[in-house]
Amino acid sequence: MDRFDVAVVGGGPGGYVAAIRAAQLGLQVALIEKRETLGGTCLNVGCIPSKALLESSEHYHLATHGMEEFGVHVSEPRFDLAAILARKERVVSEITAGLGMLMKKNKITTITGMGSFVAPDRVQVTKDDGVEEIQADNFIIATGSAPIELPFMKFDNDTIVSSTEALSFDTVPGQVVVVGAGAIGLELGSVWMRFGAEVTVIELLPRIVPLADKRTASALQKALEKQGMKFHLKAGVTGATVQDGKAVVDFNTAKGEEKKITADKVLVAVGRKPFTGGLGLDRIGVELDKQGRVVVDEKYGSSVKGVHAIGDVIHGPMLAHKAEDEGVALAEILAGKPGHVNYDAIPSVVYTWPELAEVGLNEEMAKEKGARVKVGRSYYKANGRAKTLGEEDGLAKVIADAETDRLLGVSIVGARASEMIAEAVAVMEFKGSAEDLARICHAHPTLSEVLKEAAMAVDRWSIHG
Ligand code: NAI
Repeated sequence: MDRFDVAVVGGGPGGYVAAIRAAQLGLQVALIEKRETLGGTCLNVGCIPSKALLESSEHYHLATHGMEEFGVHVSEPRFDLAAILARKERVVSEITAGLGMLMKKNKITTITGMGSFVAPDRVQVTKDDGVEEIQADNFIIATGSAPIELPFMKFDNDTIVSSTEALSFDTVPGQVVVVGAGAIGLELGSVWMRFGAEVTVIELLPRIVPLADKRTASALQKALEKQGMKFHLKAGVTGATVQDGKAVVDFNTAKGEEKKITADKVLVAVGRKPFTGGLGLDRIGVELDKQGRVVVDEKYGSSVKGVHAIGDVIHGPMLAHKAEDEGVALAEILAGKPGHVNYDAIPSVVYTWPELAEVGLNEEMAKEKGARVKVGRSYYKANGRAKTLGEEDGLAKVIADAETDRLLGVSIVGARASEMIAEAVAVMEFKGSAEDLARICHAHPTLSEVLKEAAMAVDRWSIHG
């Protein structure tokens, strides 16, 4: 039986990054993954394929809407869905193949199969060609998460689907009902809407992206409505019947009316749950919390010595970059270094058009915490670059401590917000103030000046506002 310093179960962004960092630090590492390819949900059926589809659908949308404003005439734009899906697969396979090479380069032993603990220092891997046991001084559970299924609306993987199937519809559905107005529902809803589907989103809470800043989320809703997306907020689905490939979805509206809506596809995107199935955690006594997450201490150690966990399977936002940073931190801790993640500065992005990107506290969260805050806003319509791009819908909000001016959070809705948020994260990471952000020289003309102006607006000295 092989013995390693570290064995990682799960080859997603948390697991493979932890494996590479541990190997860089001189540890002998094994990585156990049940899929044929590395990359987990994010690379195989999540972040990457959805971004590939968003990009294709954005190009099509641009070709059919608004090119003339730029003086460009396009005759009869059309799309080839098979080619779009093939491009998405190509993007995914190129990246996952790259990960395989990285494992070789870092001399990591990759084992394809389903891992299950038989003892705190031993995992049995069930492979296509048999069973193998490995031993390690330290294990890292990085098994990720799976879509939540509604008990009264079970996935049939054809008409009632999760995000995985919604990445591969082979024809454009006529009508799509999306249950849940979070990142997945809005992103994949946008993809199919841009290709011509009628998309209706049913959301339990009174607002979309409920954890986001109220004002920027409301701006996003308006922009999506302008593109044709319909919303029922404060509305709850109660069931669905499927016949001949069509679903009739029952739901209650905000006014308490019982309604029905017909759909060719129902995408249920009501969140994800930690995935620990078949891992044998009960066998070795790893403690889980009420939501099924592995309980860990500040060094990612579980209740069983030598067994650690990171990513979606523990507390915190289910985001690939959070898992990656935890992977690095834990590998460093296991190598005797002081690994650390700053949970106050983890950005989150919804890749719709416009994009919604945030970091830190939004205004409501800050007030709930009892913090006294100053808020600065700036609008895309006052920005020269936004005008040239034809992207005047959007705003940035900067939240700073009323006394110290320390930057507490930023929320941006608008074109390329996903790239702009990185600057706010950097300033927060260095514990900077709104004034620091305002006094950084920003290239002109760039959208990043919207953020600078919002930071200036915190103390009411915005030049263009
Ligand atoms: P989510 O938790 O972001 O949103 C789920 C939404 O469904 C919430 O607004 C919730 O109020 C609503 N909901 C819950 N039960 C409902 C019901 N019965 N009827 C109607 N609405 C209901 O979950 P989502 O979008 O499924 O994403 C799962 C995870 O994956 C999240 O943690 C998300 O952050 C992550 N993710 C991140 C992405 C990104 O960073 N761009 C992209 C995709 C997923």
